[in-house]
This record gives sequence, C-alpha cells and structure tokens, in this order.
Amino acid sequence: MYLGFDLGTSGVKALLVDDEGRAIGSADAHYDVTNAAPGWSEQDPADWIAGMTAAMAALRAARPEAIATVRGVALSGHMHGAVLVDAAGAVLRPCILWNDTRSHAEAAAMDADPLARKISGNIVFPGFTAPKLAWVAAHEPDVFAKVAKVMLPKDYVVWWLTGRHVTEMSDAAGSAWLDVGERCWSDDLLRLGGMRGDQMPELLEGTDVVGSVQSARADLGLPTDCQVVAGGADNAVAACGVGALGQGDGFVSLGTSGVVLAGRDSYAPDADTAVHTFCHAVPERWYQMGVVLAATDSLNWLSRITGQSQGALTEALGPTLTAPGSAKFYPYLSGERTPHNDADVRGGFTGLDIGAGPTVLTHAVMTGVSFALRDSFEALKGTGATLEAALAIGGGTKSDLWTRMLATTLNIPLERPADGAFGAALGAARIAMCGVTGDDPPTVMTKPQIADIIKPDPTLTSAYDDAYNAFTTAYPKLKAMP
Ligand code: XUL
Repeated sequence: MYLGFDLGTSGVKALLVDDEGRAIGSADAHYDVTNAAPGWSEQDPADWIAGMTAAMAALRAARPEAIATVRGVALSGHMHGAVLVDAAGAVLRPCILWNDTRSHAEAAAMDADPLARKISGNIVFPGFTAPKLAWVAAHEPDVFAKVAKVMLPKDYVVWWLTGRHVTEMSDAAGSAWLDVGERCWSDDLLRLGGMRGDQMPELLEGTDVVGSVQSARADLGLPTDCQVVAGGADNAVAACGVGALGQGDGFVSLGTSGVVLAGRDSYAPDADTAVHTFCHAVPERWYQMGVVLAATDSLNWLSRITGQSQGALTEALGPTLTAPGSAKFYPYLSGERTPHNDADVRGGFTGLDIGAGPTVLTHAVMTGVSFALRDSFEALKGTGATLEAALAIGGGTKSDLWTRMLATTLNIPLERPADGAFGAALGAARIAMCGVTGDDPPTVMTKPQIADIIKPDPTLTSAYDDAYNAFTTAYPKLKAMP
C-alpha cells in the first residue's frame, strides 16, 4: 500500500492505493485561509498537521489493516508558500501563501535584475517565495533575523514526519532561488534575495526517499519501516497523476484557477511569455504551464451575484455550442498571470445589450475563460511546448458544453478521464511507490482511462478564432481604464 496526500489551499486529501496503483480509500480534512489585510493570504502550518492527522485517523478507522501495510508516503503541496522556522524548529509567523500579493514591490525589484529571469527561467511573480522573504526582511526585521530555515508548505509536513529539512526540485523551482536548468540552489539568486545557502533545505528529486516516519509520529499508525518520499508541487504531481511527464503530454485544468500544462524532456524557458518553466517531480524532466487566476471562479462569481448555481447557469444554455455572442467577458477578477503578469488589472464585460440576461452573461463568462486559457496555450506554443491533444480535468469539464467550447477555442481534442482518482493525491501515491520500489516513473505514472474525447466543432472554429483575436486586443484597454 502507498499513501498520497494532496496538501491543498482549502484542505488535505489522503488517498490510499494498492501495489497496482488502484485507489482503495480516501479521506479529507478542511482548513481555513486567513486574509488579515487586502492582498494577504496566510495559513497556520499547525492546521496542515491537524488536517493530516484527522484524515489519517479517518482512513485508519475505515481501513486499519491496509494502513498497517503502507510502505511509502508522499505529499503534493500548494506551491510558493514561505514557512519560516527558527534554529529550534519553531514556526516564526503564519505561512504566507502562493496567492498572497503583498510582496509585489519586492518581486518587481528582483525581477528587474536580469539575472533573475536568466537563472530561474521565470518572471519573479509576487506569489513566489523569494520576494516574500524580502518583504519579511523589510517589514518584520525581528522575524527575519531569526530565520534558520525557509520551508515550502509540504516540506514542513515532511520535516514533521521525518525530522529532516528537505525540499525537492518541483517546489524549489517556484521559489526564485533555484537554477531551474541545473537543478541546484543559485548563490546569485540567494544573494539577490538577501538569503544564505544554509537557510535553504537540502535539495532532493521528488522520487528520492527522505527517511522513515520518526517514532514521535507513531500515533499516525504507520508501520515503522514506512518510508517518506520527497513528493512534489501540486501541478507537477497532478501531472504525475495523469501521466503527463514528457514532450507532447499535457492537460488543461478548468478548476478554480485554470492551467494549461505541458511536459518537457528538456529545459526550454521563455520567461518573457509569463509561462512558468519548472522542474518536474521526476528526475531529468521539466514542465511548462500558463495560469488563469479565475477560471471556474469567474462562474462562481456569476453564481453568487445571480443567486443561481453554476450547474443551473450552464444548463440554461442547452446542449448545443453556439458562436461567441456580442457580449464579452474578461476574466481578470483576481488579476492576471499568463501572459500579462498583472496583479492589478481587473475584469469586465463589454457589448452588453439591454436584453442581456443570465444566459448571455454565462455564455460570455465561459467564452472569456476559454479565451484566457487559449492565451496560455498560445504562450506555451511560443516556447515550443506542443500539445496535439490534452487531458481535460477540473470541475468545469463536467459541463459538456464548456469542454466543447474549450476544445473549439484551442482547436485540439480534449480527453476526459473516466471517474476515479487521478489528481494530485494519486500522483503523490505514485511518487511514493516509485521512491520505495525504484520503479521507473513512466511505467507507474500512466494515463487514466479516458471516458470520452471532445473534439473541436469544425463549423465554429473560425468564429471562435475571430472572437479570440478580438479578445487579445482588450487587455491594454482594460489596463488603461482608471
Ligand atoms: C502555481 C500556483 C498554484 C499553487 C496553488 O504557480 O501558484 O498552482 O501551487 O495551487
């Protein structure tokens, strides 16, 4: 048996799989995010431990015999968060999360140094770890002076389990301190961020074994010979869960945020496109992705203001895909990541007619989100990441209409997996299995069973192309709005 944990922003999911990689049990626990000031987003690392302990207790109650035979555990984690600990291992302040934008000035200052993009392969985004530490140095100097180690969220849990301060390449790649091509900490980037090498955890590959679960954690009920494997960053691990490892493999995720991800066999960064180029959670591979900050979150917003559920809104459009209408939506409700990298821009509607009701707005929202994903897809193509087809995952792909709209917008077939576990928790369990058995990742990290393939509608691709081209001209105008 192997256990994968998906340490997410709103909760943790534990997934138990057997030696064949089949899911045989799962448990979830929820925790909160605190927003103490506009743009701030924090979590108490103790809540992750409590959530993980609760999920383990539920799994143990349901499958005691299976938990007693677990050979390996690994975690997927939300990226970029800064957990600061002192020399005694005590947490110095709440973790500053990936979606916290307070350090935008520090990020811009670091990004202005040409070394940053050259070595890290990425723009220094405000959500990344390095500018957060620069913010702490400027605003909380007493805390900064005590920082003995900086840890990423899932690595804090790994330390709690094993007593070792480690991280692995996929999470380290989102710090802006890593030389992403060479897969090592960069002295130049550490110096640029005002940090020292001894404050960094030891770097492993995602499939490396960290060590045994320490005896202090015996009450989790894991066997004493159970190994903890390093794990990975959420999108990399989700890619392991759907077998997207190398060139030509990828997925489109229509979740709260939207992601277009492509596996890469080599390191081919192009930071100026605002595409992320990160190390994969398996050795000698990388991946690239574009991110839309508010994907199904845009529909959630419409649902809140209309008082109709997301399902009711999309069902009201009926089953047939139609051409984009004159009402347009720009989904920058939480700012923009790829390709504009603009935390300040906000969304909007244009072309609203006096007769526009909820169905018109829903169609515009779904179209605008699809176009924003195409922006990421085009940016990825610009880096040489080719996808002739992609898996379609995330809550929004439950809508046949939205998936067809997205396939038509991207002009590639989208493959929807059959029901079952295939996300980051499965990816983490697969990493645990590879770490313990030494199995080659591609043999374990296979593609899910496909339920259906949604093809572009050839009668509408040119209408969607034209509307997409018009969409790309809107950002500078929105940006210029006071
Ligand atoms: C990636 C990113 C998110 C977070 C939270 O750059 O910010 O994927 O890891 O899920």
